[in-house]
Amino acid sequence: MKRFAPEPWPKSCQGRHLQSLCSMHDAPMGERTRQVTVGEAEFEELPDATLAARSTDEVGSAKIRAPLALPPMQPSTEGLARVVAVTNQKGGVGKTTTVINLAASLAASGQRVLVVDLDAQGNCATGLGIDKSRVELTTRDLLLTPERAAECRYATRIPTLHVVVGDRRLVSVEDAILSDLGRESRLAEGIAPLLPHYDLVLIDTPPNLGVLAINALCAADGVLVPVQTEYFALEGLAMLLSTVEQVRRRLNPGLGVDGVLMTMHAPTLLNQQVASLLREHLGDVVVEPPIRRNIRLAEATSRGEPIHVHAPKSNGGQDHQAVAQALASRWGLIRGPRA
Ligand SMILES: Nc1ncnc2c1ncn2[C@@H]1O[C@H](COP(=O)(O)OP(=O)(O)OP(=O)(O)O)[C@@H](O)[C@H]1O
Ligand SMILES: [Mg+2]
Repeated sequence: MKRFAPEPWPKSCQGRHLQSLCSMHDAPMGERTRQVTVGEAEFEELPDATLAARSTDEVGSAKIRAPLALPPMQPSTEGLARVVAVTNQKGGVGKTTTVINLAASLAASGQRVLVVDLDAQGNCATGLGIDKSRVELTTRDLLLTPERAAECRYATRIPTLHVVVGDRRLVSVEDAILSDLGRESRLAEGIAPLLPHYDLVLIDTPPNLGVLAINALCAADGVLVPVQTEYFALEGLAMLLSTVEQVRRRLNPGLGVDGVLMTMHAPTLLNQQVASLLREHLGDVVVEPPIRRNIRLAEATSRGEPIHVHAPKSNGGQDHQAVAQALASRWGLIRGPRA
C-alpha cells in the first residue's frame, strides 16, 4: 500500500485546504467485486416490504415469511481505501454521529480516514470542529468537478482525518446531475483518485434514497446501517436492504452489507426485543455492542469534538470505542500508529 504523502499540513488545521496530496489517476474500481461471506443471515420481507411485527407485543414473535438474502460483505481492494456508506433513509437514527465518532476514533489510532459528507445539513464538518464559513470547495464541487477532488478536502485536528464538507449547496446538485448520463457514479469518479491515500472512506448520507444516497451506494464497498432499536427502524431496514439489492443488480455488484449498528439503545423492553430480533435474523452482521443512548454524544457533536475527546469514559464514549475496534477488525484495518 502506498504511504500517506508526507507533505506538510496547513498551519491551522481547521477549515484550510489541504495541499494537493494526491496524484490524479483512475483507480481500478472494476476490480472490486470478489466475494466473501459473513454469516448466513437471512432477512424477512413481507409483501409490503415491512417486517411482521405490528406492535410492541408482536416484536419478539415476528415470523420469517419470505427470506431476503443479505448481500455479504465484500473484501477491500489491496492498496485502496475501504469505502463505506453510512446510510439509512430514516432520519435521526445516528448516521452522522456514527460517521464523526468512528472516523475520529480510527484516525486517532493511526488510520488514514476521509469523511465525505453527502448531506446538505453538513453536520460532519461542525461535529469535527471545521469552521464551515472558511470552506470554499464542498462535496458539490467533488461531484461536479471530480478533477478537483484533492482540493475539496479539509484537515481536522486529528492529523490523519480529512473531510470533504457537505453544505446546503448540495441541494442544487441533485437537479444539476439528474438528467446526466452516469449521474449515479459521480461520487465514485470523484473519490477514485483519493483511494490510494486512505485506509477508510466514510460517507455520510442524507435521510432519503435520492440520487445522492444512490451515489454513495455506487461508490461504496459496503454499507453500514445505523438503526435505532425501535419498531419503525425495522421497516426502514427492510426498505434499505431492498434498495441495496437493486443497486447491486444494476449499478454496483460489489456492494455488500458491512454491518447493522444499533444506536440510541436504552434498556426498555421494546429496545431489547428489537435488538434480539436483529441479532436473530442478521447474525454476525449486527455490530456489537449497541451504542447506548447518551447525552454526551449530542454534547460532543455540538462542541465540535469527537466523543473520545469530549467524554471517553461516558457510555457513549466506551460504546463508540468498542464499535470502532469491532469494525476495524471486520474491515481488516491494522490498529496502532503507522511506522
Ligand atoms: N447514542 C445517542 N444518544 C443520545 N443522542 C444521540 C445518540 N446518537 C445520536 N444522538 C443525537 O440524535 C440526533 C440525531 O443524530 P444524528 O444527527 O447522528 O442522526 P442522523 O441519522 O445523521 O440524522 P439525519 O437523518 O437528520 O442526518 C442528534 O442530535 C445526535 O446528537
Ligand atoms: Mg445526518
